Amino acid sequence: MAWNPNIYNKFKTERFAPFYDLVALIDTKPDLKVIDLGCGTGELTRKLADQLPNSQVLGIDSSSEMLSQAVAFSNDQVTFEQRGIEEQVKLNEKYDLVFSNAAIQWSDTHKELLPEIIGMLRPGGQLAIQIPDQTGNVLNQILDELVQEETYKRALNNWRRVSPVLDIDEYAQILFENGSKNMTIYKKIYPLIVSNKEELYNWISGTALIPYLERLDGEIKESFIQEFKARIDKRFTKVSVIYPFKRILMEARF
Ligand SMILES: C[S@@+](CC[C@H](N)C(=O)[O-])C[C@H]1O[C@@H](n2cnc3c(N)ncnc32)[C@H](O)[C@@H]1O
Repeated sequence: MAWNPNIYNKFKTERFAPFYDLVALIDTKPDLKVIDLGCGTGELTRKLADQLPNSQVLGIDSSSEMLSQAVAFSNDQVTFEQRGIEEQVKLNEKYDLVFSNAAIQWSDTHKELLPEIIGMLRPGGQLAIQIPDQTGNVLNQILDELVQEETYKRALNNWRRVSPVLDIDEYAQILFENGSKNMTIYKKIYPLIVSNKEELYNWISGTALIPYLERLDGEIKESFIQEFKARIDKRFTKVSVIYPFKRILMEARF
């Protein structure tokens, strides 16, 4: 999937806010060995490293487009590698802190993936993950309805991205079953306040919409975009608009 760092970065303030909340959950210590799964452009990986004195932080991401910006954020403490999360968990490298901000919602089967991610921790290590609550977010719901309608379903050859994101109760159970008795998990609304509805389209076009737009061409793509915008327009009746974007934050010690 081709990410566009420029589109993604359009909403920097809104996208950074949950990162700071996630960092606040970390037990800050020096000399940690840290990995940032799905580090994107690396800007936040560097901010994370700046909070952890004398730590070594590796950012991994599968997207060459996003990583092309990461070089600017590397230093003695921070390095980057192009690698998928699914590959990384198989490498048997251990870390004191496994961190991931807004990335593992792109990996499937969290019931299997989370134990593998936890397996990357050294004894006494900490996990810190933030993901959008996709199934609870209205724009994702509108998108998911649209792609299941016959016209677009056919154009997409029945392809549909089913969200792997679980309920917070299920994450608590997984963390507990894999050895944590000390965890913080919560869901929070990050209000996106915009002065016109086109901005809501722009917001989702930098993330969840990408794999659909990649699979459509020509007239049907244009019709899909227009129909999606029309549904946003119908659902959000007032301007300015508050879009209550929900995210899940979790931290656990093992
Ligand atoms: C929404 S961005 C978040 C980037 C960064 N963590 C941040 O907070 O700015 C999601 C990132 O996850 C990466 N990603 C998605 N699936 C991945 C996978 N299976 N393995 C590694 N990276 C992945 C994407 O390439 C993208 O850079």
